[in-house]
Amino acid sequence: MQQEKKSVPELKHKIALLTGVTGQDGSYLSEFLLKKGYEVHGVIRRASVFNTARIDHLFQDPHEENKRFILHYGDLADANTVRKLVYQVQPDEVYNLGAQSHVRVSFDIPEYTANITGVGTLRILEAIKDFQEHTGKLAKFYQASSSEMFGSSPPPQNELTSFRPRSPYGIAKAFSYYTTVNYREAYGLFACNGILFNHESERRGETFVTRKIARGVARIKAGLDKKIYLGNLDARRDWGYAPEYVEAMWLMLQQREPEDYVIGTGESHSVRELVELAFSRASIRAWQDYIGIDPRYYRPAEVEHLIADPSKARVKLGWTPKTKFHELVERMVDASLKEYNVYEA
Ligand code: NAP
Ligand code: GDD
Repeated sequence: MQQEKKSVPELKHKIALLTGVTGQDGSYLSEFLLKKGYEVHGVIRRASVFNTARIDHLFQDPHEENKRFILHYGDLADANTVRKLVYQVQPDEVYNLGAQSHVRVSFDIPEYTANITGVGTLRILEAIKDFQEHTGKLAKFYQASSSEMFGSSPPPQNELTSFRPRSPYGIAKAFSYYTTVNYREAYGLFACNGILFNHESERRGETFVTRKIARGVARIKAGLDKKIYLGNLDARRDWGYAPEYVEAMWLMLQQREPEDYVIGTGESHSVRELVELAFSRASIRAWQDYIGIDPRYYRPAEVEHLIADPSKARVKLGWTPKTKFHELVERMVDASLKEYNVYEA
């Protein structure tokens, strides 16, 4: 007698949709989710040159079968495409990492920043709300909120600290934060804000201060530049390591209830300390000789001091930062020295 074949239920992998997939965090989060078995869909902007350097190692030929990393053109300014992608991809989880993310630049292009970094979030939330209402499917939402929203509120800052933003970027992020909370409370969306403090890496954009200094030090060591021009050396930030922060994003969406979490190291250091450590790592003495101050890098209003109180994330998510300031700076400087072939072990 022929034995009845038992049907094995096919294990469906989870599907994630990411905006900002070409950015620092987008690249690390994609790697993280692919390792967890997810199918990852990323939204990229059309550009006249390739803008995918951070994710090229993940690229899969469109003709391959069973692809798990798929890119789509789209823009946070374009509500139609955002909506189409949510319906087409049918994601279990949406991570909104896309933004005009540079604080200094937000003073030059405030309206654009409000449109992308602020209203862009509303466009996604509207699309998810409609998708859930029409299909009955749940799509959890992560919003890349920022410690920049705390602005001039004295440190340490946690989930209860009031927002006093000091830049068009911080204001746009506060709009997105409150919109995320509102869609959770008004429509029952599983929507979380990760309020992340500065996090850096070898993949950090070259105009953010950590990478600018690491790269500048290597270029001086290689004899290519004579000085690094900076703005405010007294500002203090809580700097952590980006690959560790993307795990916190994912953890937020795996909880029973949607909530907001502060993510940071709990330590702060000044830009001056960063400069000193970076030059000393490259064995260059008298760093003052290589630093110029250029007022164009000052902000019309500065956020002076950020330190995270990440206790809630530690207790509820079991998340703790591993890489602290010294190791982070050394890692970034070493990577730049290697890039310019001037690394001495
Ligand atoms: P990033 O490297 O600057 O990446 C930003 C991403 O957003 C890029 O993929 C960029 O695409 C995309 N983007 C820009 N304008 C867009 C538009 N109009 N439509 C769609 N996508 C657009 O930033 P990150 O450091 O990875 O940060 C990720 C998110 O976390 C951002 O929302 C940032 O504001 C927020 N955040 C970052 C930190 C931090 O310390 N890194 C801390 C708190 C919050 P292109 O590559 O085409 O430019
Ligand atoms: N970028 C830059 N360039 N910053 C400088 C310079 C310079 O030449 N000189 C001094 N700084 C100071 C800035 O004034 C600021 O106080 C500090 O260095 C850090 O600047 P950034 O690295 O540009 O980061 P940010 O803190 O303004 O913003 C980053 O962190 C936010 C989270 O707090 C970005 O990643 C934001 O997207 C993120 O939300």
